[in-house]
Amino acid sequence: MLMLCSSWVDQMGNVHGRVEGANPNAEALLIGSHMDTVVDAGMFDGSLGIVSAISALKALKVNGKLEKLKRPVEVIAFCDEEGVRFQTTFLGSGAIAGILPATTLEISDKRDTMIKDVLKENSIDITEEKLLQLKYDPKSVWGYVEIHIEQGPVLEQKGFPLGVVKGIAGQTRLKVTVRGSQGHAGTVPMSMRQDPMAAAAELIVVMESLCKNPEEFLSYDDHCSDSSVKSLSSSLVCTVGEISTWPSASNVIPGQVTYTVDIRAIDDLGREAVIYDLSKRIYQICDKRSVSCNIEHKHDAGAVICDSELSSQLKSAAYSALKKMEGDIQDEVPTLMSGAGHDAMAMSHLTKVGMLFVRCRGGISHSPQEHVLDNDVWAAGLATLSFLENL
Ligand code: GLV
Ligand code: MN
Ligand code: MN
Repeated sequence: MLMLCSSWVDQMGNVHGRVEGANPNAEALLIGSHMDTVVDAGMFDGSLGIVSAISALKALKVNGKLEKLKRPVEVIAFCDEEGVRFQTTFLGSGAIAGILPATTLEISDKRDTMIKDVLKENSIDITEEKLLQLKYDPKSVWGYVEIHIEQGPVLEQKGFPLGVVKGIAGQTRLKVTVRGSQGHAGTVPMSMRQDPMAAAAELIVVMESLCKNPEEFLSYDDHCSDSSVKSLSSSLVCTVGEISTWPSASNVIPGQVTYTVDIRAIDDLGREAVIYDLSKRIYQICDKRSVSCNIEHKHDAGAVICDSELSSQLKSAAYSALKKMEGDIQDEVPTLMSGAGHDAMAMSHLTKVGMLFVRCRGGISHSPQEHVLDNDVWAAGLATLSFLENL
């Protein structure tokens, strides 16, 4: 039996599979998603996009249509999109898009193990030069498409298995470290404490108020226009997902508390205004409580607008898949924004991008409760197949 595609693992740990189709010299379609997960994750985030793409190619192979593809199709399973271990996202797609600085390889995890050492442990000997060589030539690429679970409730609410993504919210990740005076929980009077845990609690609640009601906090000055503040009200979300304390014992006033902040919004200027205002308030509160604090920017990605041509091709593909499954379709395939980050954000620096979302139960993701109905997985596969057939 002939091979489905040529395959290889690159120097960053991305896995590629490529078919050349009828015109090997034509610009290639890149299609895929990520194969890493968050901690305590579900099964579909990332992997559904990879499996849909490989399955669609397999269906083309079985039907004898693989060699007739108008352009090369390369499936990529990206190595690290979530940024859980190193707090920096898009390690795989960022390398292909050429947006990772060479210093990325020196970023360490919590145990001070660097990315390059992790790759070495896995028999990949990366150097700065090899990292830069991973960037694809934009002239060799036609576009990037990603199939992904929605990770939110919109499609379920609309009663539609598939939807086309208009754009992806920008995001920033911060690491805030608050340092106070470590001491005995039984002996230091409340009025004499410099407690970084109590300070962090206040900082987190202030962040929540700011992000719930940005219009009450942000001024309409140079930092934030009227329209930015308005758009923030509907899309701004802020999360503290990780917190650690030292020395972490019940009878010790901590000496240090560190927590992460994840801020997302459709409007980039609005997001920057929120970060500016939040940072100002963090320093003010720490001053008032006589603790010191440090804010590190770990990750920044601007909002992305999906390509209109790719989006309408994906819409037709979704329509044809649903028609095959359900007969006549009365309503239009919905379009929606993505609050979650995706490899498409990094790939947009290389080429035009398009995304198709798949309904998930209760809109739940980043949880073992994440679930996609078998029929919706089927719809995603059929839509991918239809998209490839009409490239
Ligand atoms: C990725 O899943 C993200 O949006 O954090
Ligand atoms: Mn995820
Ligand atoms: Mn994902």
